[in-house]
Amino acid sequence: MYPESLNIEHAEAAEYARGLRADFPILATEVRGKPLVFFDSAASSQKVQVALDAERKLLTESYANIHRGVYALSEQATAAYEDARFTIAEYLDAARSEEVVFTRGTTESINLVANSFGGAYLNPGDAVLVSELEHHANIVPWQMLAEELGLEILRIPVTESGEWDLSTLDELLDQQVAMISVSHVSNSLGTINPVETVIAAAKSRDIPVLLDGAQAIPHFKPDVQSLDCDFYVFSGHKLFGPTGIGVLYGKYARLEAMPPYQGGGDMIDKVSFDGTTFAKPPARFEAGTPHISGAVGLAAAVRYVSVLDAQLLHEHEQGMMRYLEAGLREIEGLRIYGEAADKVSVTSFVLDEVHPHDMATFLDSDGICIRAGHHCCQPLMSHYGIAGTARASLAFYNTFEEVDAFLAAIHKIKKFFG
Ligand code: ALA
Repeated sequence: MYPESLNIEHAEAAEYARGLRADFPILATEVRGKPLVFFDSAASSQKVQVALDAERKLLTESYANIHRGVYALSEQATAAYEDARFTIAEYLDAARSEEVVFTRGTTESINLVANSFGGAYLNPGDAVLVSELEHHANIVPWQMLAEELGLEILRIPVTESGEWDLSTLDELLDQQVAMISVSHVSNSLGTINPVETVIAAAKSRDIPVLLDGAQAIPHFKPDVQSLDCDFYVFSGHKLFGPTGIGVLYGKYARLEAMPPYQGGGDMIDKVSFDGTTFAKPPARFEAGTPHISGAVGLAAAVRYVSVLDAQLLHEHEQGMMRYLEAGLREIEGLRIYGEAADKVSVTSFVLDEVHPHDMATFLDSDGICIRAGHHCCQPLMSHYGIAGTARASLAFYNTFEEVDAFLAAIHKIKKFFG
């Protein structure tokens, strides 16, 4: 059960969350003869049954290509796909469903904006502002564009605790910044970034802002209109849904002013060898047959999370994370990276004498899955002067008992290496 030191509110939250575990079939399985303890949800979350069911239902009962057939089956599949778009737009509080573009995931969404928006509106000498704690997916596409166009990449520095240092934000923005692309939540440290402050400063200078929501979306619901960001991107597989499907939200006026990213079927208005005109968004950005069942599965996952008690799940995640970190802090020679006051249930750490990969391998022998390495954040690891960390990332479907099993395993590892 939950630790006695936690108050009754946490206990209620823990019981509520425990009741949801049965919705995730894989959690009842074993790894190496031990009950699965899945602490790698920041890499990819486990799948909720309703998302699997929705995909299967579409594929077995009403599957055909969309936007193409005039027969009933294709019309049904088209309706399911467009209904998925509507569900996701509603969840994000987008102004209209045409602001939701389906992509393969966060990475493709960022590449789409960098190539299409960046390619059309950024000019030599302009700067793109990212931050030091970005995932490679929010650095490399901009670097590639910078190389091509002669742009500069600027970065918001990060403090020792893993938070943005915004003391120089105004000076940074004065350096011809024409695009800001930053993460809502850090994948390796869990920091919830003060994106509102950056957006407010950007708005006063009319600089567009993209938020990488890949690590925010499994923990809280973004409201894109009140955030007032220009773009918000995330992946379905982090939100208990399918892989290979993701979202690019863009303000309609922005999307409408953007050229296509890829050419192909479904994104055109008229094609001739004299030239081609393009469809309006979102179709303009969805060339080729999309991941139809993925969109339907993702919408089912979104509907699932949207009716859960977000406050209880937040308490549960925060309670587990604080409990886990308090346990780790008792271990001599262990350092936690990322000590922001405002963070999601992600804990990066290094135990002096143990390589993170060895840590992950030893934990695996106890059925515990964590990620180890640079977490696609090599610049951030360089900032700390380390090659990588071990990272435990928890979702609401985890339990305090699993945290206890994890801490016991770490003590065992410490003893072994010590
Ligand atoms: N971006 C994912 C992670 O942080 C893969 O592990």
